Amino acid sequence: MADKEHFAQGLSIGIIMDGNGRWAKQRGLPRTAGHKRGAEVFQDITRYCNELGVESVFFYAFSTENWKRPFEEVSAIMKLFGEYLHKAFDYQKENNRVVFMGDRTALEPRYQSLMDEIEGKTQNNTGMTLNIAVNYGGRPEIVRAARLLAEKVQRGEMSPEQIDEAALSAAMYTRGQKDPDFILRPSGEKRLSNFMLWQAAYSEMVEMDVLWPDFTRHDLDLAIEEFNRRSRRFGGL
Ligand code: FPP
Repeated sequence: MADKEHFAQGLSIGIIMDGNGRWAKQRGLPRTAGHKRGAEVFQDITRYCNELGVESVFFYAFSTENWKRPFEEVSAIMKLFGEYLHKAFDYQKENNRVVFMGDRTALEPRYQSLMDEIEGKTQNNTGMTLNIAVNYGGRPEIVRAARLLAEKVQRGEMSPEQIDEAALSAAMYTRGQKDPDFILRPSGEKRLSNFMLWQAAYSEMVEMDVLWPDFTRHDLDLAIEEFNRRSRRFGGL
């Protein structure tokens, strides 16, 4: 294996946490048991990314489409998210800056307050940026960015000619962060599923045949090694 100290240094990684339902079904458990285990894996992989010197990590926790799931399942996922917010995790100890991606206005007001508070308290932390996408969709994010820029034009703060890729990037939830070097999707699926459509323009896709609740630190090592083997040319030679 490459030098463990450096092989992930400065990387930006998107992770689609997938396969919780199948993991539970395989064990004759309710789907919510898969999400519970998935939330534990999420916390461990976050710590590991931190240890590896990853610059930014983006977790897809709940999509704008996930509201269509049965009420009990949506409630269970939101409860896990709420517990996580309350615990406040190790943000400060680990020096992480936390950013929540997505439309939080649809979430419970007490969750929204906690999210604002956590973002505020961690905004000057200098370690890894931990992004958590909740009620997030890539298309709604682009629509929101277009609207923000249109409003700026309307207020006379910018001209239409000043709307370029940099301006749009700066209007995304991920403002100021490096685009993901690769997007990891466990559970064998090969879709982006509306995750980071704008930012994933040049990202490598790394699919793995392991369900998220079974995902280990070693699996992340394998994903990073796979990414490091691929050469990226950004359309050039
Ligand atoms: C996808 O698996 C997973 C989700 C839709 C929910 C992910 C949520 C968590 C891991 C817990 C809450 C998050 C935090 C940040 C604490 P799936 O249910 O679509 O799996 P399947 O394809 O096997 O049915």
